[in-house]
Amino acid sequence: MTSASVRVLPSDKTLGAEIQGVDLRHLNDEDFAAIYKAWLDRSVILMRGQQLTDQDLIAFSRRLGDLDWAPIQETGRRFVEGLPEIYVVSNVIEKGEPIGSLGAGEAAWHTDMSYLEDPPKASMLYALEIPAAGGNTYFTGMYRAYEALPAETKRRIEGLRIKHDGTYNSGGYVRQGVTAVDDPVTSPGVYHPLVCTHPETGRRMLYLGRRRNAYIGGLPLAESEALLDELWTHASAERFAWHNVWKVGDVVLWDNRCTMHRRDPFDANDRRVMHRTQIKGSAPLAA
Ligand code: OGA
Ligand code: MN
Repeated sequence: MTSASVRVLPSDKTLGAEIQGVDLRHLNDEDFAAIYKAWLDRSVILMRGQQLTDQDLIAFSRRLGDLDWAPIQETGRRFVEGLPEIYVVSNVIEKGEPIGSLGAGEAAWHTDMSYLEDPPKASMLYALEIPAAGGNTYFTGMYRAYEALPAETKRRIEGLRIKHDGTYNSGGYVRQGVTAVDDPVTSPGVYHPLVCTHPETGRRMLYLGRRRNAYIGGLPLAESEALLDELWTHASAERFAWHNVWKVGDVVLWDNRCTMHRRDPFDANDRRVMHRTQIKGSAPLAA
């Protein structure tokens, strides 16, 4: 699909593109189709200079599919009042209470909410306030991570299933209503195939989720740990990652099935405010 106004500028990495010439509040079907195609091709896309209300963000997000409700925040509340689709990612504290989640620390490599049977297919962050330094977000591609594995490792992991932990969020905080268990064998979570086929592109990808409490079903714990360490070292090599140095007005939309992301820490005295939406997956990922 081509569009007269949409310009796609791929990064020099294996994923990521900037899309220029779009106002996400006013997109015709042709523009939207061009954006969707770029997102599938490049796995993560950046659209700068947007001016969106929460309703605008939700309206654009809905063009990709039904929206998930945001997870309960670390304070036990669900923000924004009346807009359960919006998750606030922020370190800001107002009247003694955090307005959002994930604080100012590092967020380790992860895929969003893969502890669900049917994780979101996409996540989108919209930047409202940005710290002077730090807080950059990195994305890495799990097609490449799979393709670049030695043939022997590909054979070894074929057919294995991996448990995605439901205990901790990416900031290391225990999720609401969950008792922390630090034994990967018994911690709560959901199994997915370790190698999945992307339901829209048909490409094969490594599906790791998050490292903490991950477990390869049926293996002795030490063997599972050794294999996971090997796969994580391989997949999270920073040289393959595309990253965004945020500006206010940036929208970053990622394919949550075939990427992982992480965030640098930043000065806790600075303010960082992002609003996030998530688009539901249509079916559990399959091998
Ligand atoms: C998220 C997330 C990272 C960031 O919202 O899912 O991991 O840069 N955010 O805030
Ligand atoms: Mn995340």
